[in-house]
Amino acid sequence: MKPDPADGKQGITALFSPTESNRFNKRVVRFTITSSGIGRLKKLIELHYPDLAIVRFPSHRVDLVNALYRSFPEVIFGDCLVEYRIDLEQISVPRNQERFDLGVLEAEETHIDALDHIVMYSFSDYKNHYSRNPRLKGFDLIPAYQEWVRSSVTSPDKTCHLFFYDEILCGFFAAEKAGTVYRGLLSGVIPEYRRNGVFRGIIHTVKTIFQMDGATEIVTNVLLENGPVHKVLLYEGFVISNSFLTMHLNLRTSHTLPPSRRWGKMFKSITSTPRRPRPRSRFTDLPVNTTRAV
Ligand SMILES: CC(C)(COP(=O)(O)OP(=O)(O)OC[C@H]1O[C@@H](n2cnc3c(N)ncnc32)[C@H](O)[C@@H]1OP(=O)(O)O)[C@@H](O)C(=O)NCCC(=O)NCCS
Repeated sequence: MKPDPADGKQGITALFSPTESNRFNKRVVRFTITSSGIGRLKKLIELHYPDLAIVRFPSHRVDLVNALYRSFPEVIFGDCLVEYRIDLEQISVPRNQERFDLGVLEAEETHIDALDHIVMYSFSDYKNHYSRNPRLKGFDLIPAYQEWVRSSVTSPDKTCHLFFYDEILCGFFAAEKAGTVYRGLLSGVIPEYRRNGVFRGIIHTVKTIFQMDGATEIVTNVLLENGPVHKVLLYEGFVISNSFLTMHLNLRTSHTLPPSRRWGKMFKSITSTPRRPRPRSRFTDLPVNTTRAV
């Protein structure tokens, strides 16, 4: 991604994303907001003229969520990411490591086919912000993730480790190195080996491997709803350092497109007679909620 000359100075960065633009055949620009307001974002959107703006900002900026919905016609709530960190200088390299019965190997180019395979099985049901945007319907996340993990083997500032249980490849952890800070990019365990402590073993092992490689800190992001990963990271001594919301703005979309399914359903419900008339409240004439409030 090419940096914008005004990067960061106004509490916002705008980066053209060539990978995502090729992937979706749209001009995709990523905006990361730290302290800026909606006015500055609007100006940058006019300047960069994207088809799709992917906007990420700290989750405490709820004001921006509301402002985005007010300001743009097609806004999609994508996901919520939680960022974790661990300061490796504050922990000692364990001498008698707890055994996890996992074999580990740093991936090389000869492992690319095996990696493609493991990424495909690990992420078969996975959903992120792309899958929530109806304009990107039909997009297959797997090839994109395979390409991303392959780059962790071929690029010098990235690394990828493979994990084996009884000599069977069952998990991986890909990371990027920025000086002594290592950032977890993508990791997974194939479904047959889940709920056996494999991921806990992976995190425990990468802490040691990265520490011995000179890392002082590991940073990684996880989707809010990914409970098992939160459990493992907290158990292994990581702490929450931030959280982010990802929103999509579908811009320059054709007005001739048919109404979305949501509108279709709404029109149908307005025009058709209900199958079973709902009971009405004596006082308000509103439909009565028959389920117990919790
Ligand atoms: C998330 C994932 C890595 C977990 O791997 P795993 O090897 O099953 O994890 P573990 O066995 O170490 O389990 C960790 C904890 O979460 C719990 N857990 C795991 N899967 C669970 C599930 N589906 N529901 C509830 N709890 C679950 C385990 O019981 C364990 O808790 P415990 O320590 O109290 O026993 C794996 O499910 C996966 O690859 N998912 C898809 C890709 C992904 O989400 N990658 C990570 C983010 S990039």
